[in-house]
Amino acid sequence: MAAAAAGAPNPNRRGTMVPYLSSHGGPLSGVAEVPGDKSISHRALILGTLAVGETVVTGLLEAEDVMATAAAMRALGAHVERRTDGAWSVRGVGVGGLKEPADVLDLGNSGTAARLIIGMLASHPVTAILTGDASLRSRPMRRVTDPLELIGARFTGRAGGRLPLAVTGTDDALPIEYEIPVPSAQVKSAVLLAGLNTRGQTRVIERTATRDHTERMLRDFGAMVEVTRREDGNHLVTLDGYPELRAADLAVPADPSSAAFPLVAATVVPGSTVTVPGICMNETRIGLLTTLGEMGAALSIENRRDEGGEPVADVTASTASLRGVEVPPERAASMIDEYPILASAAACAEGKTVMRGIGELRVKESDRLAAVAGGLQANGVTVETGDDWMVVHGTGGDVPGGGTVITHFDHRIAMSFLMLGLAARAPVRIDDARGIEASFPGFADLINGLGGRLAPLNAPAA
Ligand code: S3P
Repeated sequence: MAAAAAGAPNPNRRGTMVPYLSSHGGPLSGVAEVPGDKSISHRALILGTLAVGETVVTGLLEAEDVMATAAAMRALGAHVERRTDGAWSVRGVGVGGLKEPADVLDLGNSGTAARLIIGMLASHPVTAILTGDASLRSRPMRRVTDPLELIGARFTGRAGGRLPLAVTGTDDALPIEYEIPVPSAQVKSAVLLAGLNTRGQTRVIERTATRDHTERMLRDFGAMVEVTRREDGNHLVTLDGYPELRAADLAVPADPSSAAFPLVAATVVPGSTVTVPGICMNETRIGLLTTLGEMGAALSIENRRDEGGEPVADVTASTASLRGVEVPPERAASMIDEYPILASAAACAEGKTVMRGIGELRVKESDRLAAVAGGLQANGVTVETGDDWMVVHGTGGDVPGGGTVITHFDHRIAMSFLMLGLAARAPVRIDDARGIEASFPGFADLINGLGGRLAPLNAPAA
């Protein structure tokens, strides 16, 4: 079954699939410089576009997802230019100044790009049509269009509000108070971005704190944003409308979601020690480090400092025997993108790891609950899943491997199983590595530089 699916055409992309093999080799060691944070990179381009003046961004993630946002910002009137590696200049149009794009905005695989851009368009009097690849076209958009209709924007999309979607923004947006039904930084950010070109105060209530980069960065650009914890435990975010956003210089820290791969690999491949410098340690992003710590990982966090408005640190992982844990559901938002790599770690652990409250994984770049379960089963690891939970039965460091993983063009599924292959008895094969370009260009070279053995199938392993 796996082989047939692996040979099937990938609906997300033209061209040929690139199967990859990951094999058990020696220990991993060294320093892994992982690319800039994806969430912050999207927001840097978007806020730079809505600011007046020149925003200079260093450490921008130059991956497909963020490049889709860069192209969209150009189409909306910003002057976006690459200076050198990771250094970009954005000359913005100011709040209220977006121009109507002359063509469809293709946001590729990126849900963050789509949802944040829908938000910024909602309070501008323009019409834009958004589309994306097969994965993005299958993802729910009602979660953003519902609140944005309340401010006065109009949408025409496919069933379920899915892309392709036409957005017609309003020139007289109403400030709303909106309680977000599912924990989602994308929804929160879409409402806040719409709130910029809106009179009065926009208020967003979230029951669970999600990543707060939009709030922090809006303040850096001069907006009035306040976050208060109410008596009922909910967070209230308020934004005063019509700020004049001033261009700001931004340094993007390393992405904790990308750092997770070499850190977990070092933990599960015997004899390893790997350091990832400059990781964004924002509390809303580091649930995986907490969980790995509870599982018995040997992590040392050094050189804590503040960079570009975010806490950062250098994190070193050395090999450790892991034990299964129960991951509390309230931690899900702070590690939502890290469950696939946690599942790889859990497969190597002793005992079972229970993950609850993770229904959102079903509507990510793929149905990640199903994709993880399929990949683990194909490699001899026992796993149980329900609507919003998963239990991985650890092998005590003895993952059989030898299977093929269907990645559904999902970057995090691809990278998580390539890491599992480094620790498994027999090599792990993934059907297609091209999705990795969404968030982590140079991934295989970086892991191989540490001593890993990742290679395109049919090429000799390094
Ligand atoms: C993101 C928010 C999360 C996350 C995504 C990036 C963001 O999505 O999974 O990779 O940058 O705001 P949700 O808002 O759907 O939880």
